[in-house]
Amino acid sequence: MNLLEENQATDLETIVGLSRRGFISAGALCGAAMFLGGNLLSRSVLAASVNAASSKLLGFDSIAAATSDTITLPPGYTSSVLISWGQPLHKNGPAFDPSGNGSAQAQEVQFGDNNDGMSLFAFPGDDNRALMAINNEYTNYRYLYAHGGMPQSAEEVRKALACEGVSVIEVQRKNGQWQFVQGSPYNRRIHGNAPLHLSGPAAGHELMKTGADKAGKNVLGTFQNCANGKTPWGTYLTCEENFTDCFGSSNPEHKFDATQKRYGASVASKEINWHQHDPRFDLAKNPNELNRHGWVVEIDPFDPQSTPIKRTALGRFKHENAALAETHDGRAVVYMGDDERGEFIYKFVSRDKINHTHPKANHELLDHGTLYVARFDAGDSNPDHPKGQGQWIELTHGKNGIDASSGFADQAEVLIHVRLAASIVGATRMDRPEWIVVSPQDGQVYCTLTNNAKRGEDGQPVDGPNPREKNVYGQILRWHTDRDDHASLTFAWDLFVVAGNPSVHAGTAKAGSSNITPHNMFNSPDGLGFDKAGRLWILSDGDYSNAGDFAGMGNNQMLCADPASGEIRRFMVGPVGCEVTGISFSPDQKTLFVGIQHPGENGGSTFPEHLPNGKPRSSVIAISREDGGIAGA
Ligand code: FEO
Ligand code: CA
Ligand code: CA
Repeated sequence: MNLLEENQATDLETIVGLSRRGFISAGALCGAAMFLGGNLLSRSVLAASVNAASSKLLGFDSIAAATSDTITLPPGYTSSVLISWGQPLHKNGPAFDPSGNGSAQAQEVQFGDNNDGMSLFAFPGDDNRALMAINNEYTNYRYLYAHGGMPQSAEEVRKALACEGVSVIEVQRKNGQWQFVQGSPYNRRIHGNAPLHLSGPAAGHELMKTGADKAGKNVLGTFQNCANGKTPWGTYLTCEENFTDCFGSSNPEHKFDATQKRYGASVASKEINWHQHDPRFDLAKNPNELNRHGWVVEIDPFDPQSTPIKRTALGRFKHENAALAETHDGRAVVYMGDDERGEFIYKFVSRDKINHTHPKANHELLDHGTLYVARFDAGDSNPDHPKGQGQWIELTHGKNGIDASSGFADQAEVLIHVRLAASIVGATRMDRPEWIVVSPQDGQVYCTLTNNAKRGEDGQPVDGPNPREKNVYGQILRWHTDRDDHASLTFAWDLFVVAGNPSVHAGTAKAGSSNITPHNMFNSPDGLGFDKAGRLWILSDGDYSNAGDFAGMGNNQMLCADPASGEIRRFMVGPVGCEVTGISFSPDQKTLFVGIQHPGENGGSTFPEHLPNGKPRSSVIAISREDGGIAGA
């Protein structure tokens, strides 16, 4: 069968096998079945049926893949740059220095590098004024320093740390366009050397104490801030991801224990090199410093004087984001992924109820509660639409085999080494869990499983929500909690989409599920965002070589899906070498804020200014419709 025939067969399956796939609503299924009548399918019947299934939620046509160094959007949409790496936050602040010779002190008061997850906090009663908290995940040495290499001094390490963390900025809409408000008293940086508190069960534990912090309750810095969460009580959650990469050891013979190894500790830090110039990151001198990172951090954006707090009750791992939900009885739920090959999906359920009347009363809500990890059964083996059941397993000291006999002295140790505790209870090893979001329409939870080249190797069976060996394309998992209650400990799961390349490959394993076509294909789904109407926005962090397995996919991109029908359309393509990550919406849903991270990470881009020989700069862009309508509608 040639590829064209294979694609036709896939289309036919879309019509005939609807109930099996479950990607099309019951109404559309009924209509298609009645329309088809017998079993003779002509091309015209097929086309009519596909049109009948077209989403009414998505009001734009899918755009082509692109490899240009620009933002590509559907007709009728426009974008502008809200803020870029190095922009001074305060009046008369030090300007961005493209030479790479700018100081660490200057970077500490400029917008950080490699912006990632972000949330918008509207001022009450004002649709045109808001604060945005924006993560700055890491930095590109190629552009940060004049020499373009690894940091070579304590000052250069300090400058790298100043690029990371969080930027809080005020934004206002003027003349129809959202703009950064330089000099706002709310503007602040919480960078890799800023003072933070530790709270929750692990704060003050022996494993959290260092020579500089004998109480184990105060820590310098948050860094490797990947994605985010927004609480119903108006605070921002920033999630520390690849923290282990920042540590190394000056002792070449350093022997790491099992807990350090499980978190990836090694003598040579991963292309970061800080430990050679800042002893805080030298595990031979400060082994416990590693335990003070890898947490979810809570920030009050409306109080510039407040000290951010690392919430240890949520567990320590390579946090991607934090998705908030509420149980039927009013408690907070935080869904979280651990982005590493074969690591897990977690949820935290607070002990106390959310106080919606007095937001400040929720100050300690994330310090008390129960952490769970997900186990997925192998389920239905249908490659196009795997589905099954799953359960949440409690990670509490004294339960489920987690106790002194398995290496945990108390709950603090369970949380600090939660990956090991989750392994004891038989959690499912996933294909790199990235973002998680909760549908505002029906409460279903979606999680990107971005890829996993090691799927199929020992301890990582090819089944359930991880159905492909050496998975290079990724998939989006979703689950529906029993009784529609996020407190439920059981759920039903299915795969919303299995990414693939139907223009190069045949068969679901590499061509993708039936809602992937040559016109919307992508790889490595990562960021996710739901708008108020229930459109699911999908952001990619994938292979942008546009060759081989990825031929025809172009640069990283943003797509938009109708969760009910399963239809996916490509909405935006980013510039050369970028990752598209971070999404937020204006209060009226007319502007999409989207993060363009590391354009030109390997050269080849001058985005966004396009100056001759200019440096590319990570940026937040604002996308809106020229006719002033709702974005995506
Ligand atoms: Fe920062 Fe897993 O992405
Ligand atoms: Ca990510
Ligand atoms: Ca990623």
